[in-house]
Amino acid sequence: MYNHKILILDDEQIVIDAIKKHLKVYGYKIHEAKNGLDGLKLFSEINPILIILDLKMPVMDGIEFLQKINLAPTDPCSVIVLTGHGSDEDMERCFELGVSAFLHKPFNLYELKGLVKNSIALKSVEQDLKKQLQARNKMEEELWKYRYLLEDLVEKRTSQLKETNEKLQVEINERLKAEERLRHSLREKEVLMREIHHRVKNNLQIISSLLDLQTRYIKGKESLEMFKDSQRRLKAMALIHEKLYQSDNMEKIDFAKYVENLLNHLYSASCLNTARVSLKTNIDECYIGVDTAVPCGLIINEIVSNSLKHAFPADAEGSITVELKAEANEIYTLTISDTGIGIPPNIDLKNAETLGLRLVNALALEQLEGSIQCEAGVGTKFKVTFGELKYSKRG
Ligand SMILES: Nc1ncnc2c1ncn2[C@@H]1O[C@H](COP(=O)(O)OP(=O)(O)O)[C@@H](O)[C@H]1O
Ligand SMILES: [Mg+2]
Repeated sequence: MYNHKILILDDEQIVIDAIKKHLKVYGYKIHEAKNGLDGLKLFSEINPILIILDLKMPVMDGIEFLQKINLAPTDPCSVIVLTGHGSDEDMERCFELGVSAFLHKPFNLYELKGLVKNSIALKSVEQDLKKQLQARNKMEEELWKYRYLLEDLVEKRTSQLKETNEKLQVEINERLKAEERLRHSLREKEVLMREIHHRVKNNLQIISSLLDLQTRYIKGKESLEMFKDSQRRLKAMALIHEKLYQSDNMEKIDFAKYVENLLNHLYSASCLNTARVSLKTNIDECYIGVDTAVPCGLIINEIVSNSLKHAFPADAEGSITVELKAEANEIYTLTISDTGIGIPPNIDLKNAETLGLRLVNALALEQLEGSIQCEAGVGTKFKVTFGELKYSKRG
């Protein structure tokens, strides 16, 4: 809402009335006083946008009034002076005191009307601009406040992140060091394990050599055979440890390779050759842990040794077949057969009295926790089914 209050200060009522009459049509609210002193009171009460001021008045004249109100150009009020006796000095003084227009009496009321309209319009625009400027300054101030706040926040967050980052870096370094230590200790353990398997193999070989030395003092053929059987068993076990220290992870061995090596050894230790008794193998590619591989290797050793030793007497010819089928869930079926004379019917695998077959039975049922069948038909056929032993089953 615009302020359209006008204050008229003049000691002549007739002038006031004339002005009022002309200005009323614009809807201005007009207040009046007859001297400067009354005018001062009204001025502070109503805050007019425009003062129409006579200079010569009783009690307090226009100049004094102007001095008292002490208008600054930015104040929301302008002054038009109307005077009958105003000198040039008065005019100069008035302009110094912030007056915006100076009219001599008798004045043209239309000129005054125009001046009043322009002065009020100018002041209104000026006040609007002032308000807008103030609002803008306030907004700018707020913006600066937010900017500082934001900068502060960003700074705090950055330093927090930096701190977290540093902590993470320390943690990463510690983890890297721990990982390196672990890797180092793993390497050490691997070396150690390899060394152990190597030594076990060497020790088994030493025992085998000792037995070999001792055979020279044995007279009976049967005793000699027993020593040779023991040597073969030692060799079957030593081979496992040899394969273990050659393997990548030292937990499992390449069983097909092992069986191939074992059969080669058994053939070369026997007086048979593959020309007379051929060897067929069909071993699925599989990697077997030491706990399963040792009993399994010993079983192969016993059964194949028996085939080599008993199945083909004199110059009999035939073949020996070794098969290992790897099925799902680490279940294996080992089949060893020969086309020889066949196991004598009076020999019962379950109640065998001889060491070789007892060993086969015990290794299959107890060590491997599997099952075993022996078929005598054309030749002999053993079928052993077992699973990979898990750690908890180890004795
Ligand atoms: N594949 C086979 N063919 C013929 N006879 C066999 C075969 N396997 C085992 N036998 C017979 O079973 C017997 C028991 O074998 P085993 O317990 O290994 O004792 P050993 O081999 O020391 O004689 C053998 O003496 C042999 O008569
Ligand atoms: Mg035997």
